[in-house]
Amino acid sequence: MKDKPRKIRSFVLRGGRMTRGQQRAFEQGWPRFGVEFDPERPLDFQALFGNDHPVWLEIGFGNGESLATMAAAHPERNWLGIEVHPPGVGRLLRRIGELGLENVRVLRHDAVEVLEKMIPPASLAGILLLFPDPWHKKRHHKRRIVQPAFVELVASRLEPGGLFHAATDWEPYAEWILEHFEARPERFENLAGPGRYAERPETRPLTKFEARGQRLGHEVRDLLFRRTGSA
Ligand SMILES: C[S@@+](CC[C@H](N)C(=O)[O-])C[C@H]1O[C@@H](n2cnc3c(N)ncnc32)[C@H](O)[C@@H]1O
Repeated sequence: MKDKPRKIRSFVLRGGRMTRGQQRAFEQGWPRFGVEFDPERPLDFQALFGNDHPVWLEIGFGNGESLATMAAAHPERNWLGIEVHPPGVGRLLRRIGELGLENVRVLRHDAVEVLEKMIPPASLAGILLLFPDPWHKKRHHKRRIVQPAFVELVASRLEPGGLFHAATDWEPYAEWILEHFEARPERFENLAGPGRYAERPETRPLTKFEARGQRLGHEVRDLLFRRTGSA
């Protein structure tokens, strides 16, 4: 029997050990805020959060600082964070505990698979993709998370009127994201106008990663697309 072709992923797991503090936060926080990946069980947000507030998803939350800040600033929204890097998951769980957040749930898995298998169609108010790995080299572009199939997936999981917000400090990736989303005008409207980048929405906190980019002189691009049409 032939092996199934290996799936191309947008991440490489390296240096994935948690510190003792993160491990402790993980053990305390995961039973309450963690969600196990289960391809057979789409999420029921009402049951998961205990309310029917709109759900915002952050893909690749890194150390979770932005997510914790946004969740604290917007208790009227539910926040689902997905990250594959274990120390980041541990750190976010620690911040959830420190800030006493009730409106955050965390998944430790490939966000593409989570979107495919666990997020119901037309169920999300917003999807955030902040500083995705840019995969600079041409031969690695296939690893970029934004691909035509990803654009379709995002469209199908956002409710009509829902927002997709990306930010990057790598200009060629900003252009790439713009091209990929603008290639589907029947699914997305660029809120900044065709071919344009958006102003930084005040809802997006400054991340450590972004601060580093700024020191290196990289300009940050925000991209805001609204899901058009019906589910
Ligand atoms: C460059 S970092 C940016 C982190 C954070 N958003 C920030 O702005 O500081 C990209 C993150 O996305 C995560 N990531 C990449 N592909 C992912 C995927 N398919 N599912 C979940 N996380 C992913 C990586 O592990 C990494 O932590």
